[in-house]
Amino acid sequence: MAGERVLFVDDEEQIRKLLSTWLTRHGYAVTVATDGWEALKAIRAKAPDLVITDVNMPNMNGFELTRRLRADHRTARIPIVMLSARKQADDVLTGYAEGADEYIPKPVEMAVLSAKIEVLIKRFRATQGGSESAPKRGGNVILFLHGKGGVGCTTLAVNSAVALAATTIYRVTLLDLNLEFGNAPMLLNLTPERTLADLAEENHEALDQATFSRYLIQDRSGVRLLAGCDIPERAELVTVPAVQQSIDRLQQESDYVVIDAPASFSQQVLAALDVADGVVIVSAAHLPSLKATKECLEVLEKLAYPKERTVLVVNRTSESGVEMDQISRFFNRKADLVVPYTPACDDAADRGRPLTMLHPDSAAAKVMRDLAAQIAVAAPAGR
Ligand SMILES: Nc1ncnc2c1ncn2[C@@H]1O[C@H](COP(=O)(O)OP(=O)(O)O)[C@@H](O)[C@H]1O
Ligand SMILES: [Mg+2]
Repeated sequence: MAGERVLFVDDEEQIRKLLSTWLTRHGYAVTVATDGWEALKAIRAKAPDLVITDVNMPNMNGFELTRRLRADHRTARIPIVMLSARKQADDVLTGYAEGADEYIPKPVEMAVLSAKIEVLIKRFRATQGGSESAPKRGGNVILFLHGKGGVGCTTLAVNSAVALAATTIYRVTLLDLNLEFGNAPMLLNLTPERTLADLAEENHEALDQATFSRYLIQDRSGVRLLAGCDIPERAELVTVPAVQQSIDRLQQESDYVVIDAPASFSQQVLAALDVADGVVIVSAAHLPSLKATKECLEVLEKLAYPKERTVLVVNRTSESGVEMDQISRFFNRKADLVVPYTPACDDAADRGRPLTMLHPDSAAAKVMRDLAAQIAVAAPAGR
């Protein structure tokens, strides 16, 4: 190993010294923390390649530390090894349930620990495709965002996915991240038998790609859909790691992964944003939505998301609305596309057929195909 950063968390000084000396001698760059709180602070300052944590500690124990790391999109992927003198099956299962990758009993068998660390770091490094040096792992991720609901975000996500698939060049998957009130399946008249909520209950590491594929349901356009959740109360089952791993897997199977996000910067949405090759921001032409959109754009700017990879769409969901030149001034940016008001949108939704298929000659359908083309330009496949 060459200088991989390992954070070791334990409240007992002797063990900290012993283990960190051993790890340093084996080539790891080791830092230590004495409890979960201190560990969290250190990880947020600079994320390590792996965390080894004790379970019983004052202030914040290893279970809580693991729970917090897994709930945050920035730290959810960091491998975690738990070390504990607590060997009861219940403790071990709690460790895994909180998201530990390995649970090793104390006293620690160093050879075992060393082997596990090596495997975990290798696997972690392989998932870090977002970094500049690492090769890309699969298809492009296109995230559809909006600041306020009812602006046609889902309509545009679904229709762009369908239009991209209709080229027959691209394999397209659609992920519905509206966990509580997802309606992408409805717009395609699909009734998925399994959703991300079911998938989240599976052991991800052990899941092979063929089993994963059974969670997808194919539309006649060729788009394959992974639904977020069946009923609102199960939404909380869909953890941040479950979303990250699902997107990884969708990328392996597609040229484009189109993601329909809820009107929120939830940790799940931020996890999708982390890997998004392009972002489409959808706004209606009315003040409440325009204000929310502006705030969305500001968040993207704060997160240093590259502006050239964003597509700003104004969707005229009603006959009235603010004029385009006023909207440009308000955003200090011209919209890339304007979708005209088209009553046939509701007709298409009610019939469970995407507008681009049902009324391909309608004004809105044309712009939706333009949007698909813009996506292909902003995030070319096979890059
Ligand atoms: N260009 C449009 N013209 C007319 N109605 C539209 C247009 N785009 C979307 N709609 C309608 O607006 C409603 C909200 O769309 P939806 O995609 O569910 O919004 P969101 O995902 O932003 O909540 C739907 O009834 C849809 O048919
Ligand atoms: Mg929606």
